[in-house]
Amino acid sequence: MKFIHLTDTHVIGGGGLLFGANPAQRLAWAVDSIIAEHGDAAFVVVTGDMTHWGDAAAYAAFAEHISLLHMPVHLMVGNHDDTSAFADRFPGTPRDDAGFVQYSFATPQGRALCLDTTSAGTHAGAYCETRQNWLRAQLEGSDDPLLLFMHHPPFPVGIAGMDAIMMRDPDRFYDVIAPHAARIRHLFFGHVHRPIFGNWRGISYSCMRGLNHQVALKLDTDQDGVIGNFEAPAYGVVLVTEDRVTVHMHDFTDRSPQFSLSSPVSQG
Ligand SMILES: [Fe+2]
Repeated sequence: MKFIHLTDTHVIGGGGLLFGANPAQRLAWAVDSIIAEHGDAAFVVVTGDMTHWGDAAAYAAFAEHISLLHMPVHLMVGNHDDTSAFADRFPGTPRDDAGFVQYSFATPQGRALCLDTTSAGTHAGAYCETRQNWLRAQLEGSDDPLLLFMHHPPFPVGIAGMDAIMMRDPDRFYDVIAPHAARIRHLFFGHVHRPIFGNWRGISYSCMRGLNHQVALKLDTDQDGVIGNFEAPAYGVVLVTEDRVTVHMHDFTDRSPQFSLSSPVSQG
């Protein structure tokens, strides 16, 4: 199974610039790349921050481009999204009984769980008791292998300004998933706008760059400082088999020359 992990598109309405770059244009480039290079992907997951300001015009611009993808696209909200404005534009995206944008879907390699980690009025993440109860029921509902998707990481990544707005109360979240951790194949998240790979309490994870602006690799900032930059945008190309999860980061705007690395055949 191949799928695409796209995150933090931060689209704004009206075709304007955000920090000097055009997020809608970058989404258009990403969509073109996915269609041209990975049209065989089974689905796409967008792990939040579809828009920067959460306004209707931005969701309209996001929809205009994302709708060109022919495979199923599973959308999730992040701290820059507005659930109400999102739902107006994408009424078909499932929500739980409490209105949170979280749902599961079947894949050929197990069940995908898309979690809503947003918290009104803050850029930090949360996973309240209501959502924990929903997740507990989902986890107890089947023995399938699991792929977890969320916007905020439930652990620090070493960048103080981003760690200050990670998911709060990670231990309570972990208590919910711990009985099922052995069948969680991988945890995918966004929010940090960086390629980050590792392992949390035995669960492998990855984060991808955003499409517009990135977070610079500054491990010595204080909690008030997040430094941005324009490292190349990327999306994840994920290959899943029964015994492997492989995450490729694709710098899809790279146009450097390509050439053969094969050794020349000796003529001697
Ligand atoms: Fe973001």
